[in-house]
Amino acid sequence: MKHLLSTFDLSKETAVALLDHAEELASRISQDRQLDLLAGKTVANLFFEDSTRTRLSFELAAHQLGARVMNFSAAGSSISKGESLKDTAQTLAAMTVDAMVIRHRSAGAADRLAHAGWIEVPILNAGDGAHEHPTQALLDAMALRRHHNQVPAKEAATKLVGADLSGARVLIVGDLLHSRVVRSNVALLNTLGAEVALVAPHSLLPAGVETWQAEVFTNFDEALASNPTAVMMLRVQKERMSSAGGGFFPSVGEYVRAYGLTDERFRALDPKVRIMHPGPINRGLELSDLAADNAQAIILEQVGCGVAVRMAALDWLVNGENN
Ligand code: NCD
Repeated sequence: MKHLLSTFDLSKETAVALLDHAEELASRISQDRQLDLLAGKTVANLFFEDSTRTRLSFELAAHQLGARVMNFSAAGSSISKGESLKDTAQTLAAMTVDAMVIRHRSAGAADRLAHAGWIEVPILNAGDGAHEHPTQALLDAMALRRHHNQVPAKEAATKLVGADLSGARVLIVGDLLHSRVVRSNVALLNTLGAEVALVAPHSLLPAGVETWQAEVFTNFDEALASNPTAVMMLRVQKERMSSAGGGFFPSVGEYVRAYGLTDERFRALDPKVRIMHPGPINRGLELSDLAADNAQAIILEQVGCGVAVRMAALDWLVNGENN
């Protein structure tokens, strides 16, 4: 692996090995608190778009591996003076960095950094526009793999080696149109042998969704009746809509009634079904408090898996997969 840009690039063998490595690192860090796999290395985090979980977990992952971390955020940088992506990246690379993490509002930004010939640094895509978010899909798969195989986190490093997601059926719900999380997840879940179902109002279905490897619904209750083993709720991405909810659905109340995981839908859910959300949650919109804050919801476990997956990806990209 030279870069981590898209889950479409990951073979099943590579994806499973990366998840195994993430479990191994999660286990080691829970015992040792500090590893030295990236001692003496420098990781640059370039965030041109807001982030809490992804930015902090990449930062913590690099620190836990012993790397130095440079954090760049567009706010407060020379971007306001008109500096380009190319010049920004080359400036950071000139300070000698061993890996670059990038989040950008434009689809294709990470790919451009990796392939334009501007810099020679492994690139990790931390979300590019509505395109892809590969580490999110990997952390989702890591959490799902534990639950699907009923292996607790502390035993996962030994008991899940080589495991995939065959037999799982993941229903992804909501703002599919603006979601990079769904694109990365559809590819990776299929690669790992899971079935994927999608549900959204017509206005939030991406063009060409019928060609994706997924069963597509527009009625949430019908989709829930198709026996998913996990339900992944997506955030309504108001910042990518022309105005809050503008034109994509009639009203917030209407959206909640049709596509929200409300108290009523939560109570009707099989207790074995896991509830996921990449965060940040719009409480009361995608999820009721009851649906978000109960033992079936694995949203905070997803966050923990995010640190482990990012440690694994950084280690592989900087040190190589066979070290
Ligand atoms: C996701 C993102 O930024 O794409 N969040 C995340 O990385 N945890 C999903 C979202 O913002 O809704």
